[in-house]
Amino acid sequence: MKDKKFQLPDRIDTSIYDKKVIVALKEKLSKILKESRYEHSIGVAYTAASMAMAFGYEPYKAVLAGILHDCAKPYDLEESLQYGKKYGVSFTPYEIQHPALIHAKLGAAMVPDLYHVYDQEILDAIRTHTTGEKAMTDLQKIIYAADYLEPGRKPLPNFKRIRQLAFSDLDACVYEIMRDVNEYLLQTGQEVEQETLEVMEYYRKVVESR
Ligand SMILES: [Fe+2]
Ligand SMILES: [Fe+2]
Repeated sequence: MKDKKFQLPDRIDTSIYDKKVIVALKEKLSKILKESRYEHSIGVAYTAASMAMAFGYEPYKAVLAGILHDCAKPYDLEESLQYGKKYGVSFTPYEIQHPALIHAKLGAAMVPDLYHVYDQEILDAIRTHTTGEKAMTDLQKIIYAADYLEPGRKPLPNFKRIRQLAFSDLDACVYEIMRDVNEYLLQTGQEVEQETLEVMEYYRKVVESR
């Protein structure tokens, strides 16, 4: 019989797989996210779990980070700024001009209170899933890449190669995604932040210095 009364524990133990926790988080997210965003999140969760297995990383953390990574996506700019105040997150002028970037940082700040995950590795992976950062952990790289290449994403020119790299070479995968995103931004006349270029340069050096 279905246990309808299950409530999330005050603090989710991310070291032990718990199906009830997964079911409860999915149910909560399915009420907040629009259907396509929810399906994308599930796609990210299981792509990330598969990548975690390929690199010997803990798949449960990848599932949790994937399910939760877009939890702050539904809020508009005004709501995001209000939640930012509540959760002690400040946004840069560039982020405020590009509201699509805000949800990553905000999501990471909201997750402990709203979804009871306090695991810093998971929170970092959510925080950096749109832009990446230098010296990411494996989980950060996995979520950054899985967000880009989960099966539900619209096909892009280098998908086949990038999707193969996602299971063989995490740094090269991250670098190639950053290069493609950057090229797309340039081609469409969008401003690229200096920090983003520096992060991409960091991964170019990581890949080319091996
Ligand atoms: Fe996102
Ligand atoms: Fe996403």
